[in-house]
Amino acid sequence: MHVLGIETTCDETAASVVVDGIDIRSNVIASQVEIHQQYGGVYPEIAAREHVEAIIPVIDRALKEASTSFEAIDLIAVAKGPGLIGPLLVGFNAAKTLSLAWNIPFIGINHVEAHLYAAMMSHQAFVFPALGLVISGGHTFLVEIFDVGSYSLIGTTVDDAIGEAFDKVAALLGLPYPGGPQIELLAQEGDPRKYPFKAGVVKSHPWDFSFSGLKTSVLYAVKGQNGNKKDPLLLSDQEKKDVAASFQEAALSAIVNKTLKAANTYHSQAIYVGGGVSNNLKLQEKLQADIPIYWPTKGLSLDNAAMIAGLGYHAFQGKSDPYTLEPETRCQLFSPA
Ligand code: KG4
Ligand code: ZN
Repeated sequence: MHVLGIETTCDETAASVVVDGIDIRSNVIASQVEIHQQYGGVYPEIAAREHVEAIIPVIDRALKEASTSFEAIDLIAVAKGPGLIGPLLVGFNAAKTLSLAWNIPFIGINHVEAHLYAAMMSHQAFVFPALGLVISGGHTFLVEIFDVGSYSLIGTTVDDAIGEAFDKVAALLGLPYPGGPQIELLAQEGDPRKYPFKAGVVKSHPWDFSFSGLKTSVLYAVKGQNGNKKDPLLLSDQEKKDVAASFQEAALSAIVNKTLKAANTYHSQAIYVGGGVSNNLKLQEKLQADIPIYWPTKGLSLDNAAMIAGLGYHAFQGKSDPYTLEPETRCQLFSPA
């Protein structure tokens, strides 16, 4: 079964052809990062406009690189959310239009679930019950996975997503967007014990994450007590490196400790990691367990359409979505345990 995947939840326009949920024939990603860099983050209206420009050429390229044409496509899978509404609408309208024009079914796919599927398809590994960890610019989720399509929420963030915290701390240090890779680089030469930063604890629900207090601690450390984001940054190069390393240590420790504890508590047979922050090598070094840990391979960690097409194959089961389906900026996937 040939599935065309389409992904436009945030700032990448992506299309991909995947056969039988696993065989990636093309994985085209047009990034808008350079455009959003000048604003220090994703500017939703501009993102939507960029998607409009890119969507048809990107789909065209995905078909060409897969050496196929639309006649061979059996299903269109599109990310239905969570994400930004303008960008989502562009992908959705493209998917519905092509589904009508080519007379093939279309199906909406949850973007967060697809990030977990990316790790499964990367290794063709389907080991359950497992633990899922999604860590990206928009999401922080710890879930039990019983099968593809069957999940139970363990914990999520009560404020900032982990990638968002990396991006905001990077901005405080005067580094460009997206900040995660910049922080990782700077941290390599810093002392992670220099500043006593800690991620928050959510007393009412200890499996949840909180990163906004950590971000504020960094703000006060670099701009003085009650300092303002716009105040000048008076740090030496070494102090910046120490701040980056100490912040990264605090943020990653929260993720690693909770993940290992959850794997133990829920008797997980494997851990699947998804989302952009999974690229962080310090995290990969710190997160070690005596069960397999599946990380997404290159091209499948950041936002992409191969994970959407791959999961679309499993989600379809002969039942397409109606054209009345609309994208959702915050769609619920994981019901609380
Ligand atoms: O999965 P993704 O492309 O988008 C969302 O679905 O949000 O993830 C992007 C996020 C950004 O916040 C970026 O700073 C972060 O992933 N990121 C990293 C690293 N590479 C990307 N964070 C920490 N370390 C990295 N090496
Ligand atoms: Zn994502």
